[in-house]
Amino acid sequence: MQNNTFSTLFVGQNLIKLSAVDSTNNFLKRMLSNSEPLPEGTVIMADNQFEGRGQQESRWHAEPGKNLTFSILLRPAFLAIADQFLLNMAVSNALYIAVKDLVGEGLTVKWPNDLYFNDNKIGGMLIENIISGSSIRACIVGIGLNVNQAHFKDGLEGIAGSLWQILHRDVNLIELLAQICSQIEAAYLKLKAGTAAGLRETYLNHLYQYNVMAAYRQNGEIIEGKIVDVSEKGLLSMETRIGLQTYNFKEIEFIKTHKK
Ligand code: BTN
Repeated sequence: MQNNTFSTLFVGQNLIKLSAVDSTNNFLKRMLSNSEPLPEGTVIMADNQFEGRGQQESRWHAEPGKNLTFSILLRPAFLAIADQFLLNMAVSNALYIAVKDLVGEGLTVKWPNDLYFNDNKIGGMLIENIISGSSIRACIVGIGLNVNQAHFKDGLEGIAGSLWQILHRDVNLIELLAQICSQIEAAYLKLKAGTAAGLRETYLNHLYQYNVMAAYRQNGEIIEGKIVDVSEKGLLSMETRIGLQTYNFKEIEFIKTHKK
């Protein structure tokens, strides 16, 4: 479908809207494995994603019709597998910029790529790469953003948040999707052109709990530390009582200290 809402070159120009699907990431993967000819920048969005997947085998819950749940197909063959976190940074920065325009102060990216408003998670992403030999053949950027959902079910209350809870008004989903696609395209093209200097600095500038002392859980123990860096490979550096420590994904857990 040719798309006029989007002023992009390619991201979102082929927009496939589904009323219901298990997971937009799975749907895109199935299309790719059936060798469907999909242009780069194809976006699959769903009103109702009933088996949304999150990081670390978790589930992503979104009330049907109220939120953005979508996946973007990219083909970053120019990116070495070892550099794939650069794309995470680029997409995180892009999502941050698009949403910051609406909500202002209080927005951060929690390492590695959750979108937070104060201490509530309002968005997340699941980036899945399809590797062929030594290069990335396709990349599925799955994004869930809580937009017009006012309430969250037990267990997520006080943890998840939404734009509605911040703004107390509805936001047009397609217009917001167009903004996000436009920012992602700009960040992606910079990365592709090798002109993404400042990518890591931008990421650090809006990083959740950057340079502040906070509590974390590591190997079942509570430790105190201050995040001081995230490398281009995505490793988190933290100053702790026993010196500078570096953590890989899943090696450290954030602890929520204050409830909203
Ligand atoms: C997380 O923070 O755990 C990542 C959440 C990613 C959710 C999105 S919603 C669209 C896409 N399809 C999925 O099944 N997951 C991602």
